[in-house]
Amino acid sequence: ILLIIFLAFQRSAFAGSGIIVRSYKVESRITSRFAHTTVRSLVVNVAQQAESIAFNVQIPKRAFITNFTMNVNGVMFVGSVKEKTVARNLYAQARARGKAAGIVRTNAQDMDTFKMEVHVPANSNIEFELHYQEMMQRKLGFYEHSLYLQPGQLVPILQVDVYIYEPKGIAVVETRCGVNHMDAGLMDVGMRPQAHVVFRPTLFQQRKCDSCSTTAVDGIFTVRYDVHRDNSAGELQVSDGHFVHFFAPNNLSSMPKNIVFVIDVSGSMWGIKMKQMVEALQTILDDLTIDDHFSIIDFNHHVRCWSEDLVHGSSTQVADAKKYIQSIKPSGGTNINEALMRAIHMLNKAANQGFIDQRSVSMIIFVSDGDPTIGEIKLSAIQKNVKRYIREEFSLFSLGIGFDVDFDFLERISMENRGIAQRIYARHDTSEQLRNFYRQISSPLLRKVTIQFPEDSVSNVTQNHFDKFFSGSELVVAGKVQTCFSSPLISFVTASSAQMDLSLQTETDCTELDSLLGHQSHSVAGFARQMWAYITINQLLAERSLAKTAAEKRKITRKILKLALEHQFVTPFTAMLVESETGQERLLADSPKDPKHGCCIGVPAWGALLRFPNLVMLCSDMVVWNCFNPNKKGLAVNGQLVAGKKIKNNKLNTYFGTISIYYKTSGIRVDVSTQQVNLIHGKDQHSFSWASTANITLSGYVDEQKQNAHVTITVNNGTTFMVLLHRVWKKHPFNVDFLGIYIPSNNIYSTRVHGLIGQFAVEPEVKIYNIHDGADPVKQEATMEVKGNKLAVTRGWQKDYRKDRKYGSNVFCWFVHNNGKGFIDGQYKNYIVPQMDSFFKQELK
Ligand SMILES: *[C@@H]1O[C@H](CO)[C@@H](O)[C@H](O)[C@H]1NC(C)=O
Ligand SMILES: *[C@@H]1O[C@H](CO)[C@@H](O)[C@H](O)[C@H]1NC(C)=O
Ligand SMILES: *[C@@H]1O[C@H](CO)[C@@H](O)[C@H](O)[C@H]1NC(C)=O
Ligand SMILES: *[C@@H]1O[C@H](CO)[C@@H](O)[C@H](O)[C@H]1NC(C)=O
Ligand SMILES: *[C@@H]1O[C@H](CO)[C@@H](O)[C@H](O)[C@H]1NC(C)=O
Repeated sequence: ILLIIFLAFQRSAFAGSGIIVRSYKVESRITSRFAHTTVRSLVVNVAQQAESIAFNVQIPKRAFITNFTMNVNGVMFVGSVKEKTVARNLYAQARARGKAAGIVRTNAQDMDTFKMEVHVPANSNIEFELHYQEMMQRKLGFYEHSLYLQPGQLVPILQVDVYIYEPKGIAVVETRCGVNHMDAGLMDVGMRPQAHVVFRPTLFQQRKCDSCSTTAVDGIFTVRYDVHRDNSAGELQVSDGHFVHFFAPNNLSSMPKNIVFVIDVSGSMWGIKMKQMVEALQTILDDLTIDDHFSIIDFNHHVRCWSEDLVHGSSTQVADAKKYIQSIKPSGGTNINEALMRAIHMLNKAANQGFIDQRSVSMIIFVSDGDPTIGEIKLSAIQKNVKRYIREEFSLFSLGIGFDVDFDFLERISMENRGIAQRIYARHDTSEQLRNFYRQISSPLLRKVTIQFPEDSVSNVTQNHFDKFFSGSELVVAGKVQTCFSSPLISFVTASSAQMDLSLQTETDCTELDSLLGHQSHSVAGFARQMWAYITINQLLAERSLAKTAAEKRKITRKILKLALEHQFVTPFTAMLVESETGQERLLADSPKDPKHGCCIGVPAWGALLRFPNLVMLCSDMVVWNCFNPNKKGLAVNGQLVAGKKIKNNKLNTYFGTISIYYKTSGIRVDVSTQQVNLIHGKDQHSFSWASTANITLSGYVDEQKQNAHVTITVNNGTTFMVLLHRVWKKHPFNVDFLGIYIPSNNIYSTRVHGLIGQFAVEPEVKIYNIHDGADPVKQEATMEVKGNKLAVTRGWQKDYRKDRKYGSNVFCWFVHNNGKGFIDGQYKNYIVPQMDSFFKQELK
């Protein structure tokens, strides 16, 4: 075999006239957001002479190559990840013998190109196989997996398979082909938690036109999905000695924002860039509400402010700001330092004057297309200044338009100041890219999120404090599990939202997922282990770019190197050496000189192909009962009945399916159902599954503590209710899950407390006499005198589940017949209310 280094400039994957691509297969396995992609291709050289074959694959910037193998006429070349210098030396030795070929990974926009070229004799068969791994980040409510398909010619076997396995279930999957007009086929989906997306265009379908011999397949094939979430404390998974905690609560309202837009209007912005930026800013400004505050600073060599102070996002202010930005004519130089200092000063001043709400989020959105040319032009000095003057609670987000801007600098100043940076490509959709970025950060839901674990249960935990959580994103923490044999692994989350401070708890069994994965033929082996390494390496790379001294940098580099070798990732410090079995021939896969991590492009516009709605909730005929109006300050406790599954002994049993506690004074309502606990406060709704534990204190009015299978709700620091969940066997022929409400005897109520149960807050005087055996010998009968009525009552027992959750303890009771007639005020129908938050009005006597 003769392998020669070639520099390939062809755009198509395979060059040469006698080169035929027999098959091109892409397979991605995604397990819990971690994707392992394999690209396999079989190519033959049918020409009479030697030809060069190039294998080009575009891979996402955030992906790490993990393997590359090649089979040339039966001779295997196998890849292994080595320290860069080691790999380069070995490669140089082979090159000296003329037995080496280069593989390059080049940098381009949002994808890197993996490119390799070999020169092979006539009648050669070559199989390529490339592997890479990446973690998918949730953006705007979706995980998006993009595959760049570029076979270069019509291919008899062209197929793409994406297997998704998400333990919690897949809520929605969509596919889109940027490949001409072809539609992707969907198979096997709907069987949560797995999905299998298939794209297998026939030779005919691949043609650009009916009579064409060129392929239409040249573009991005995307699959995007979201998972089902039933536990707002997040999803904790353990596999292979590693854990991953995914946290993405929904149903929280956005925190108000204080934004200073700092926009570059130097000469280089002139023309289409400025036009697209103005277009984007106009829609962004429209999104502001009266609760938000904002201002605009535009700068070239001078710095100007639309308003010297932050103003409310009212429609008149927004209209005025829009007019202002439209009138800007870009010209002149770039004074970045002064512009940023002015923005920081504006936010600091507002904070000092008490203009900024404690529970709001303050940020600077900085847009530039070039390096500083006026004022302070040393990037390190600007970085220092920003860090020095910006407050801990402000964030700096940077957008770099085009390639004239030092993106590394933008990343550093953003990372160092609780923000992120994004590259914006200067092209027709620049304004769309800007808007998409803004959408990702426009709805902050939580601040100061901390995810913790009991001491000694885990180690080597990745970043677990997060300054903010934005709607549609996800926070991920991973680590090694230390001890987890007999008890489950527990995690605690604390955070502040627009209205409340949350503390949440979730737990997971440590072996369950591995046994589930054992039955999955298309899952990623050791996903949690690889995910932990992937996150750790990316964090170390970020830390390294902020490191102050060379010694610190070297220390971090050593850590990255160790992990990259252990987990076989091609990183900026490692390379892949591909060797023939004899070690005679060598190839080198190197990453780009200047990796730009953290860069991802905006989300394309989507046309949904298929949607899988979340589980359908079954509703039976339900009646809402008022149990309580405990005091005149406005507290209502209502219960909703659910029926058993079937009639048994001529009776359809009913149970409490939902219990709702509504405190009108503060507008807070807690709905406890057999499925979950919902906390509702105005627009804000927060759900907790029974599997999580939560303590919530809402501005001192309602304190809710949920432990496994019971919720304690304290209203106004005095009135307490406990709701117990009783689960029945799922296949029980008659019974369904139900709730029990327990009320301590030391609750204090006003004299006006009423309702089905509330009327007994003060125990009525009851006399029992004439006790005698009944028709059923175990059920005694008697006469009860209460509220001036004489009632026939029967002895029986009822269960009290407060102590023994599973079987309950028996308590003897006297049962009143006729739906409690004579025992309760009025009749039972008087207690039916229209809604879960209705008050009981009728005066009954
Ligand atoms: C790369 O693939 C080859 C062939 O399948 C295999 O023998 C080798 O162990 C793989 N290397 C890694 C690091 O997985
Ligand atoms: C994990 O943490 C321990 C203790 O802090 C440390 O000694 C070890 O090097 C870490 N391991 C990795 C792979 O980072
Ligand atoms: C909730 O409160 C109880 C009692 O105050 C405490 O024991 C428990 O640890 C708390 N749970 C969380 C998740 O904060
Ligand atoms: C979130 O709120 C919406 C609308 O209020 C509701 O339809 C949905 O079921 C809620 N989701 C959860 C998980 O509570
Ligand atoms: C709640 O009541 C307890 C005891 O009655 C008292 O010590 C505590 O200060 C009260 N808390 C609030 C927030 O009113």
